[in-house]
Parts: sequence; C-alpha cells; structure tokens
Amino acid sequence: MAASLPRRVPILFLFIFLSFFAAVTAIDKVPVKDRFREVNQGEFSEHSSEYFANYRALVVYGNIFQLAFYNTTPNSFMLGIRMGVARSESLRRWVWQANRNRPVRENATVFFGADGNLVLADADGTVVWSTGTANKGVVGITILDNGNMVLYDKKGRYLWQSFDYPTDTLLVGQSLPTRGAAKLVSRRSATDASPGIYSLAVDSGDPILYVDASPKPVVYYNSTGDFGFSRRTKGPLTFEWYSPDDNVTFELSFGLIRTVTKYDSIYSFLRLTPDGDLVIYTYDDRVDYKAWEKTFVLFDADTELRSACYKAGRCGAFGLCEREMCTGCPTPKGTTGWSDSCAPPKRGPCRPGASSSYYKVAAVEHFITVYRAAEGVVSVGECRRRCNADCNCLGFLYWEESSQCWLAPVLSVLKKVANPRHVAYIKSS
Ligand SMILES: *[C@@H]1O[C@H](CO)[C@@H](O)[C@H](O)[C@H]1NC(C)=O
Ligand SMILES: *[C@@H]1O[C@H](CO)[C@@H](O)[C@H](O)[C@H]1NC(C)=O
Ligand SMILES: *[C@@H]1O[C@H](CO)[C@@H](O)[C@H](O)[C@H]1NC(C)=O
Repeated sequence: MAASLPRRVPILFLFIFLSFFAAVTAIDKVPVKDRFREVNQGEFSEHSSEYFANYRALVVYGNIFQLAFYNTTPNSFMLGIRMGVARSESLRRWVWQANRNRPVRENATVFFGADGNLVLADADGTVVWSTGTANKGVVGITILDNGNMVLYDKKGRYLWQSFDYPTDTLLVGQSLPTRGAAKLVSRRSATDASPGIYSLAVDSGDPILYVDASPKPVVYYNSTGDFGFSRRTKGPLTFEWYSPDDNVTFELSFGLIRTVTKYDSIYSFLRLTPDGDLVIYTYDDRVDYKAWEKTFVLFDADTELRSACYKAGRCGAFGLCEREMCTGCPTPKGTTGWSDSCAPPKRGPCRPGASSSYYKVAAVEHFITVYRAAEGVVSVGECRRRCNADCNCLGFLYWEESSQCWLAPVLSVLKKVANPRHVAYIKSS
C-alpha cells in the first residue's frame, strides 16, 4: 500500500490538471454574428423621448424595448432601456439605466465580445460599467418581451438580468427583494439621472418610501401603517399584472398598492419620481397617439391614499402645503409667498447642547407625525432641549394638547391643518 502511493499521486494530479484544463477551454463563447461594438456617435433619433432626451438606439432590443444611448445635457450620456414602439407618435420612456453615477461622452462604446461581458467604456477607453460576466458561459444577449435585458448561457439560463438592478422604475414582473437588498432610487431631476434623495425599499413585505436624512433615511410613506395590515406572504415583492375577469378589467399591484384599468395594462411601470411620488404609467400598444396614461399616483387626494402635502418633495426644499398646493414659505420673519427657492434657514456650525433659536409655525403637521412614534409625553422645553442636544435635529413638531414631541431630521413640507395647537418649531441658529 505505502509503496504504491507515491506512484499514484502524480497520476491523480495529472488527471485533475487535465480535467481543469478541459473545463476552462470548454467555456462557451458568444458566436461571432452576435458580438458587437457600437460607438456613441452619429445622428440622433428623430422620435421624441422622455426628459426631452436625444437618443441613439442600439442593436439590442425586444418587443417594445430597446437599448440606447440617451442624453438630456450635451455630451453626458446614459446607457438606458427605452420603452415604446419605434414608429409610434407617442413618447418613448426610459425605464432603466446602466451608468447612473457615471455618464459617458460622445464616442463612448458599448461592447459585447466573445467572452460574454457587456462593457460600457467612455471615449478615452475607461471602463465605466459592465455586467461582470466575462468567461462565465454567456452565449447571447436580448431584451425579453417584458423589458428584462438578459445575458444567457447555452441552456437558456440568465447569468445576468437588468431586472436584478432596478434604478427608479419597476416593470411588470420585476421584483424588489425584502430587507432593502435592492431598492428604487429616484432621479435627482428630470435632466439628471444620478441618484436623488428618495428611495423605495421592501422592508417587511410592503413598500416603504424614504427621504435621505442624517444619520439615516426617514420614512414618509408606509403602506402597512396606512392600511393597518400587512401582506401575509413575506419575500420579494413583485409589480404584478392580472385580469380577474378574463380581460374585462385589469389590475396592477405592488403589495397593498393597486390600481384597476379598463384596457390591457401589461405594458406598465411603477416609478419613484424625482419629487418622491410613486406613479404607474400604462402604455397602450394598440394606439399610436397618446399611448401613455398615468394610471396611479400615490400622493393624490383623489386616490384617497395620501395627501400630496405628505409627499416629501411636494414643495421643494421647504414649504407650507394646503389643500394639495404649496402656499407659503415659513421663515423666521413669518410666512412669505411660496417659490422654488424656499429653503430651511441657513445655520452656522452646530454644537450639541448649545441653545438654538427657533421660530414657531402654528397649525401644521408633518409626515413624521404620521409614521414615527413620538418622543413621548414631554414639555415643550424638554422637546427643545432634546433638539438642541442633537445636531441632526432641524426642528421639532409638538402637539400642545397631548404634549407629544417629534424631533425632525428632515423638514421638506409642513401640511396646514385646522388644529392650531399642532405646531412646528424650526431651528434658525
Ligand atoms: C469621435 O470620433 C471620431 C473618429 O472616429 C472623430 O472624428 C470625432 O471628432 C470624435 N468626436 C468627439 C466629440 O470627440
Ligand atoms: C411600517 O408600519 C408598520 C405598522 O405600523 C410598522 O410595524 C413598521 O415598523 C413600519 N416600518 C417602518 C420601516 O417604519
Ligand atoms: C388576456 O390578455 C392577455 C394579454 O394580452 C392574453 O395573454 C390572454 O390570453 C388574454 N386572456 C383571454 C382569456 O383572452
């Protein structure tokens, strides 16, 4: 036994080496006819698209979706997926982008070679984004009928899919995993695709909307809290389409958020907008003109879900909202007329515990009073002291009749209410 071992080991090694070598060389490659390298140059499409963007469509497409370079500001391009039929008179909308944080320039390239990696490189050759699928057996790329761009192997398995990397939009059939493993993040503005301050995550089975704040994002919508119950099943939440009565009516749902349409609404998407609203757009592919309809708006008095005055981005950086409209700018000198430039007061450096000045705004509420537990029953002086102690506190909400106190790490919008004893104190220095 002992004598035969040394002779066997090299053979075993040779065997392992050969099988490893065979495995490496056997990795499938993209057939020559399906490889491409496209340069971002030349004429723009003459068709209109969302955000007044210009675009150049690329070779990857499927159904009513197509990969394209688009820009809203000169020489600053996104690689995105366009939704809408090429020949239609209606707008084409942007439902996904690869490189939100890193726009590319004229002459950037998108490359899909033998190794099966989809690579976006800027004009100087810098790699800006890729699917990270080199030498994993990818043999092709396509966009499925539902708008999911997939890289697949020879058995048809998806080794990468755009549905796993949502930006600000979910298409029908697309899911968000629980516990915030992936989330929707709004665009900064219509012309700026980089990540904005609003996000949607599925925390415990239902959608929660957050606005950025320090030290952590603050909830401004929680459907479980609103409906008083949660979905029974936990796990990824899918934006779904179904027809309860064989194509007489159609329903779209995302957890407890749902809407009904009168026509086939399978071409729909759910979007977190630059001002923090949650909307559904539905595309009617049978018509050429006015094919899009906004079939759902979350912060809308008409849908009776949430007043627009609870939408974090309703009145820009800071405003007073009454009957769904921005009506004023609460300043230390009193309320002035509302404009886009309304903003919280500028303050000097903060020292925790140092006494700050505040001004009072009467008869207002805030989304924090809806979705956050109060600090407890404390005097207004104690509430102020706690806000002084916390440099992230920009002001506080106080209900005089019940002595409830909420510290506010974000101000954004104050909703006018009838009760004069619901007040806000805004830190001004
Ligand atoms: C793009 O590349 C072409 C050459 O392929 C060059 O003529 C053109 O000037 C470049 N455009 C820009 C904006 O750099
Ligand atoms: C949403 O609301 C429910 C019910 O009030 C609550 O249990 C849950 O913690 C809330 N989620 C978040 C993230 O605030
Ligand atoms: C309903 O519409 C869907 C999508 O257009 C279609 O796939 C399905 O066959 C239709 N069902 C019936 C019963 O007509």
